[in-house]
Amino acid sequence: MTAELSIRGDETSPAADPVLRLEHVGIAFRGVRALSDVSFDIPVGGLTAVIGPNGAGKTTLFNCISGIYRHEGEVELDGRPLQSYSADRRARAGIARTFQTPTLIEQASVLENVMLGASSWAEAALLGTALATRRSRREEAEAQANAIEKIEAVGLRSAAAKRSVGELAHADRRRVEIARALVARPRLLMLDEPAAGLSASESDELLSMVLEYGRETDMTALLVEHDVSLVMRVAHRIAVLDIGKLLAVGSPSEVRRNPEVIAAYIGAEDPEDRAEGERV
Ligand SMILES: Nc1ncnc2c1ncn2[C@@H]1O[C@H](COP(=O)(O)OP(=O)(O)OP(=O)(O)O)[C@@H](O)[C@H]1O
Ligand SMILES: [Mg+2]
Repeated sequence: MTAELSIRGDETSPAADPVLRLEHVGIAFRGVRALSDVSFDIPVGGLTAVIGPNGAGKTTLFNCISGIYRHEGEVELDGRPLQSYSADRRARAGIARTFQTPTLIEQASVLENVMLGASSWAEAALLGTALATRRSRREEAEAQANAIEKIEAVGLRSAAAKRSVGELAHADRRRVEIARALVARPRLLMLDEPAAGLSASESDELLSMVLEYGRETDMTALLVEHDVSLVMRVAHRIAVLDIGKLLAVGSPSEVRRNPEVIAAYIGAEDPEDRAEGERV
């Protein structure tokens, strides 16, 4: 029954300029095309989801947006073209992400893990050596206060900051990853399957927290997720990828009724489709 309940609010501004615009984004690996000509807009506010079968290109799209891969086409953040920007520069411009495969440091504390989010990737590799000594005491204190604020924002108690990540339950580790992405105060937060391994109620709680945080800080969320019923509950807009191509983009009810999406991904026997169709 919870699948029928939506936990999204009404925070998108479809009429406003999009926060992110993808224009003809594509990439091939050694001649094998993983993404072709993907173009769509992500409206300001709320949560846009990217769904699609295994190997559809969802993580590859995230790697293009965050600048890990050099790609064809253009990615614009608030109208600013990012094509020539490195991953670090895109992060500084306001794009933060979590990874499909968790990248937390098990032995380090929650606080240390979250504080890594403020460093560029190159700096992070040096953390504990040159960088730590170069930071002034005031900068260190500010970075720590910011990290504690984000740890609390994701629903972990500040007492959790000192615990090592290895001791945490799975759902709390997901929160730590999100807190680490939030320390950079992103304009766009990209989450690659953050609900993997979580129960339906844990997933709802996690994504409600992201939506609420976004509302308070003017941040937009972009989510890759396998669980279609979760996506239908949380997303304001959904893009469907299939074999590296954009199959459909629209509101949850538009996407759910799209015949191509049903054939390729959702399946024709979804009873929610029929119920929805009968009311129209
Ligand atoms: N670095 C790479 N080198 C070669 N091929 C790659 C690379 N990254 C992705 N691919 C290929 O691109 C295609 C899309 O992969 P991707 O990981 O983006 O899919 P996905 O939609 O995220 O799948 P999943 O749901 O399993 O996470 C796959 O065929 C994959 O093998
Ligand atoms: Mg993936």
